[in-house]
This record gives sequence, C-alpha cells and structure tokens, in this order.
Amino acid sequence: VLERVKAHLDLEATIGGYEAAERTEDEHERIYKNLARMLGCSAGEIALVDSSTRAWDAAFYAFAQRFERGDVILTASNEYVSNYIALLQMVRQRGVRIEVVPSETNGEISLPALEAAIATHKNRGKLIALTHVPTNGGLVQPAAAVGRIARRHGIAFLLDACQSAGQMPLNVAELGCDMLSATGRKYLRGPRGTGFLYVRQSLLEQLEPPMLDMRSANWTAPNQYEIRGDARRFETWEFSLACRLGMGVAVEYALALGLDRIQARVAALGEMLRGGLEKIPGITVRDLPGSGHPRAGIVTFTHARLTPQEIRARLSEQKINVWTTSTEGTRLDMEARNLTEMVRASVHYYNTEKELERVCRVLAAL
Ligand SMILES: Cc1ncc(COP(=O)(O)O)c(C=O)c1O
Repeated sequence: VLERVKAHLDLEATIGGYEAAERTEDEHERIYKNLARMLGCSAGEIALVDSSTRAWDAAFYAFAQRFERGDVILTASNEYVSNYIALLQMVRQRGVRIEVVPSETNGEISLPALEAAIATHKNRGKLIALTHVPTNGGLVQPAAAVGRIARRHGIAFLLDACQSAGQMPLNVAELGCDMLSATGRKYLRGPRGTGFLYVRQSLLEQLEPPMLDMRSANWTAPNQYEIRGDARRFETWEFSLACRLGMGVAVEYALALGLDRIQARVAALGEMLRGGLEKIPGITVRDLPGSGHPRAGIVTFTHARLTPQEIRARLSEQKINVWTTSTEGTRLDMEARNLTEMVRASVHYYNTEKELERVCRVLAAL
C-alpha cells in the first residue's frame, strides 16, 4: 500500500498529475471492480470518496431531500457521532423524528422493538440508519436481520460499515442494505483520506446529490446538466489518486487473504485479549457481547484507578499503541452505561499472540 502511494506521488512529480492519472486509468477502474467483488454488487454501484463520513453523508443528504415533516428515522443506540449529528440536523431542518430503537441487554438492536416501532409509525418510517460495528467496542449488530425487516417493510436501509469493512465478509444482498458506507483507513489497512459508498442501482437513480460537480454531472448545454446514472454521481472530480490507488492495493490484499480468514483471526485475537484483560485486577472489559456473531476486533476497557488517557500514555511508553473512545463518539450508548471514556485496543491479523500477552503483562504491572 505504502509503495503504491509513494510510487504514484513520484510519478506525478516526474510526468505531471494528469499524465499520471491517464497512465493509471485501468488500475483505477479495477478498484471499483474489486470493491464490487468484496461487497457482492456491481461496479456501477460503488462511489469512491474521501472518508467513511463523506460516504455516509453523500448517501444520507441525498436521501434526506425526500424527508417530509413527521417522517421517522429509525436508528440504534450505538450510532456514530457524525451520523447522529446529521440526523439531528434533519430534525431541525425538515422536522423529521429520530426513533432510537431499544437494545437487547447484549447490546444488539432489539428486532421485535424495531418491528414494533415500524408498526407504530405506520408509513412514516422512511430510513433505518445502523452502525454495523460501533466505534466503542466489538459489538456486531445483526445487520442482515435488520435488512430483512427493512426490505419487508420497504424502508431504506443505510449501513455504516466503517469498522466492519476489511475485517469480515460483507455482502450487500445478504445484509439487505440499500446504502453502505466505509473507509479505507481502518480494517482494510488503506491510507487515510479514502472511503467508499455502495448504493443499490434502483435507489441511486432516485437520489440526487445535494452537491454536484463535473464528475457527478455533465454540463450538456449552456442551460442544461445531466447527473450521471451510476454511483459516481456521489463523487467529486478532485481527489488524491495516490491514496486511492493505495486503497486499491489494500482491497486486493484483503481479497487475496480472504475475509473469512481475516475475520476468524481478528475475532480469535480479540477474544484472547479480552480473556487476558479480564484476569487483571482493576480492569473491566466493556465490550457489549451481542449474540451469534464473533465479536469484532475492537476491544474496550476501563481501569478502576487509572484513566484511559493515563493508560494510553503508559502503554505508549512501551511502544504499544492504543487509543481512547469517549462519550461523544457514541453518546447514547455511553450515557446509558454511565461511561465517559474507555481505552480502545484494536487488534488485527498481523498482531501476534505474544504481543497480546505483552500488552496484558504491561497492564498488570501498572
Ligand atoms: C462507526 C464509525 N463510522 C464512521 C466513522 C468515521 O470514519 P472517518 O473518520 O474515516 O470518516 C468512524 C470512525 O471512527 C466510525 O467508528
């Protein structure tokens, strides 16, 4: 990935940006095809954008133009901060209502409660927005079951797969989602500044992006423009091609390893780390368990005396990288569980069992 990014920057510097783009047209097209393979859709249903947030926004704000006062957006208690801010903006601007569907005690969205909410709101339920794996733990939401409910009721389903893309198989037909957003920079191991969006063909033709440019539309006559017929209507003309090509390599890499294998390895390491942490006095693992899925590789915990920031600093001294997650990232869930901040350790397949044992040893010594 790094070599690809750097090589393209060098090529741009040597022969020129447009010229370098011309030479990599086939490789660029291959990214769409590979992502389509990864998600089980067609290449025309993929848009490449700058981040997961921009991918989600592109779909949401296009969809939002249809909202009418009193329409309802159904979501779950682990929804991501940026998504929720956008939902709140639509409450303010369009008079929609947000219904946060209650969770089961295992953290998953309650499917009977979702059915009940849809029934209560009758035909006002217009969109289900769900985060597949939250930013604050290993919970995997039952997205496919939500997708089946969405389809049965003819409600559009927008899935935030930012944390699941690259660490588990994702098939949009099985997931039953109409729109899916994701990033290159997390489990796919691509560069920052990359993201992608899937929009089902039959829906994308009805979605007009609120912002257009010469990539998303053609200026066909002095007073006319035509929006593209494929998902590239959600793209911008300008982007970092070097980073995008790097993401393309990351996607090929994940496909070659196999997402089933990746998921098995990440899940096993995640469980190993949780098991080790649970044995350390003072540490509490905070991941919501969910059911029926292997948990994702995001492991969150707190310490009885040390703050998450202190733990991060102490681990950093030992060259162990963890991050922290705080209330605002997933406010509904964090407030419901009386949590303000947690340490977040994200394992990936390249981590070794020895490394995880060392993390636990260092933490125990604190
Ligand atoms: C669930 C979820 N969605 C979206 C995002 C945003 O991703 P990005 O910052 O790449 O746009 C994150 C980032 O942590 C996330 O956890």
